[in-house]
Amino acid sequence: MLEKINNLKEQISSLQAANADALEALRIKYLSKKGEITSLFNDFRNVPNEQKKEIGQKLNELKNLATEKINSLKEIFEDKNDDANAIDLTRSAAPYSVGTRHPLSLVKNEIVEIFSRLGFTIAEGPEVEDDWHVFSSLNFAEDHPARDMQDTFFIQSNPDILLRTHTSSVQSRVMECTQPPIRIICPGRVYRNEAISYRAHCFFHQLEALYVDKNVSFADLKQTLLYFARELFGQDTKIRLRPSYFPFTEPSAEMDISCNLCGGKGCNFCKHTGWVEILGCGMVDPNVLDSCGIDSKEYSGFALGMGIERITNLKYQVKDLRMFSENDVRFLEEFKPAH
Ligand code: DAH
Repeated sequence: MLEKINNLKEQISSLQAANADALEALRIKYLSKKGEITSLFNDFRNVPNEQKKEIGQKLNELKNLATEKINSLKEIFEDKNDDANAIDLTRSAAPYSVGTRHPLSLVKNEIVEIFSRLGFTIAEGPEVEDDWHVFSSLNFAEDHPARDMQDTFFIQSNPDILLRTHTSSVQSRVMECTQPPIRIICPGRVYRNEAISYRAHCFFHQLEALYVDKNVSFADLKQTLLYFARELFGQDTKIRLRPSYFPFTEPSAEMDISCNLCGGKGCNFCKHTGWVEILGCGMVDPNVLDSCGIDSKEYSGFALGMGIERITNLKYQVKDLRMFSENDVRFLEEFKPAH
């Protein structure tokens, strides 16, 4: 009996079946009512009592082995069957899923394009900056609150190395190594130590413009702003300038445009004022020109800076700023160009 059991064990370990029918034949051969293993169980009653324990155990092992082996072969055929059913030969070939431009890139490109028509070219600077380019060269006083740890991310507690909090740092980098005329536009990512919510993020994007030459006046700034606003938001757009303060411009202003949602009549978006703020601007402070090696007696300039997320919100009404950095393709697909 023991010999039979061992023989069967060997046979079963190397069982193969070419298809489901062959496998069923094997199951019948070993495990059906008249199968070889079943008949060993029938013979078991003739085994002498003192061997019952050992042989019983071996028989059970054999039966388990055979059941497992047959089940695992069965799975292979079942998988193959599933695959065969899953292929739908009538379906058309899967269309390629094409990525979309990010809405922030779309808007940035549009703004760059508008300024390039006025002769501005792109300038870039590093995101990890030093205090000089972000603050000191731009006329920030030693104790200006923007230098505070609460607003600025410093690198390794070194108060001189930090993540730029605005793209105005690129202004001073360019002025340091270029003499006027300068006409640049600087798009880029900036960082501030803000709690992340639907209306604030610790990184976002800005776009800065700088024009320095002889006789640049506030009228040039205003005309540039009007052209820009109308190109971006439509020819009916109105602008207004409110006096403001920035350390690096004097005089400084903030620009509002007539609310592009209600056309200036007043709605929730513009808090019923008919106007929405879109950027900061002003005449470059002579101190800034001088710090960067440009003679403020000979030259003057204007600068302006805006948040790209803000402009994008105005154009597309994205209610939650976090959507811009979550990379959810369903969101991105909303910005697919219509073909
Ligand atoms: N750097 C300012 C900010 O981050 C924005 C700004 C205001 C830029 C006035 C300018 C400017 O160039 O003239 O809030």
